[in-house]
Amino acid sequence: MPGAELIPRRPWRGRRVLLGVTGSIAAYKSVQLARDLTRLGAQVDVVLTDAAQQFVAPLLFEGVTGRKALTGLFTVEGAALHVRLGQEVDVVCVAPATADFLARAAQGRADDLLCTTLLATRAPVIVCPAMNDRMFAHPQVQENLTHLRERLGYRIAGPAAGALAAGEGEGPGRMLEPTEIEEHIGHALGAEPAFAGRSVLVTAGPTREALDPVRYLGNRSSGRMGYALAQAAWRRGADVTLVSGPSALEAPVGVDLVRVETADEMHAVVAERIGRADVTVFAAAVADYRPAESRSEKVKREAEGPEISVALAANPDIARATAGARRPGSVVVGFALETSDLLANAARKLESKGFDLVVANDATEEGAGFEVTTNRVTILSREGKPEALPLLSKDEVAEEILDRVGRLLGSRG
Ligand code: CTP
Repeated sequence: MPGAELIPRRPWRGRRVLLGVTGSIAAYKSVQLARDLTRLGAQVDVVLTDAAQQFVAPLLFEGVTGRKALTGLFTVEGAALHVRLGQEVDVVCVAPATADFLARAAQGRADDLLCTTLLATRAPVIVCPAMNDRMFAHPQVQENLTHLRERLGYRIAGPAAGALAAGEGEGPGRMLEPTEIEEHIGHALGAEPAFAGRSVLVTAGPTREALDPVRYLGNRSSGRMGYALAQAAWRRGADVTLVSGPSALEAPVGVDLVRVETADEMHAVVAERIGRADVTVFAAAVADYRPAESRSEKVKREAEGPEISVALAANPDIARATAGARRPGSVVVGFALETSDLLANAARKLESKGFDLVVANDATEEGAGFEVTTNRVTILSREGKPEALPLLSKDEVAEEILDRVGRLLGSRG
């Protein structure tokens, strides 16, 4: 969302990020990255190579991070700068990473502040390559990347395929967008034992039920809540599958996204995967009914006259229909969107659909429900009283839900 306010949040808040910038055109995007990370609550130290300073000035980074941008190796403040930085930071991210940087890092060179700090740190290192597609495909570059990944345990994020620098056409070599790199950093910072290696299945979005080849029955769900949950679960270290009805949102980073259109299609994917899931979250707003018959030709106004009736047939209740296939001991979360008797209806769904948690919200309340970025929810569980949360962003609601899922996973071993 361009211009959207980033609010300080987990897992970036209070964490120290070292952002290495090397000499590539993509360095202009690193300024946005440094700014976003700072606004997410991280303390960002930017280290620029000499070549990076041909593209962007240190002052630009100082303006967005409020901290001195670092360039020189030969500085001592208490201890040698590279040793101190290497020990203090929680994560190192090199974005953009040029072919020259990859070669120097793979060789373990120590001829500038960035490469020397890499030798001095034991923090996770993320590398975001950016270069021309022919350079990226060169066997030497590929060999360096393999060495960094397999021998040194670096995480290689990207590159993406897409428009390269002016005159270079398109291809794999483009640096990931700042928002994607932020998620990779979040993933490195956010690992939680309760979620590590766990399989999480999330349904999201509306479903579309065809009336004819051009029209459908649907609902106003944007998919935001489910996408936020899938992204937050990946940040915590889970393997995540997101089964999504039509949504305009970008695919979450690191998540296996399966796109579907109808309730029947969503049902088939969930039925196939739920047996392997340690956690299932039913966040989709599934259409309860579909046109009993979908016309093969467009419905014509002249042929139909002033009134038209459409018979509806019930769709499967996906949560209920797949209950028997759930993995024993898995945690299952449902949502309840109501317009009246919120708690009573939600408690009924907790029981009848065999959920461990139900996230209830009132669609008539301001800031809750569809098409907004916030939500005010009450979380019901099998033990204890319903917990009413304040108005939060959907990202924060996702974290609250996953905190509770994590506790349940922990208690079930
Ligand atoms: N759900 C589902 N399949 C459906 C309908 C709902 O899996 N066909 C799931 C939703 O993803 C949600 C929960 O069931 O987690 C409750 O959905 P909701 O629409 O609130 O309830 P319904 O069971 O459809 O009941 P009603 O519409 O009558 O309130």
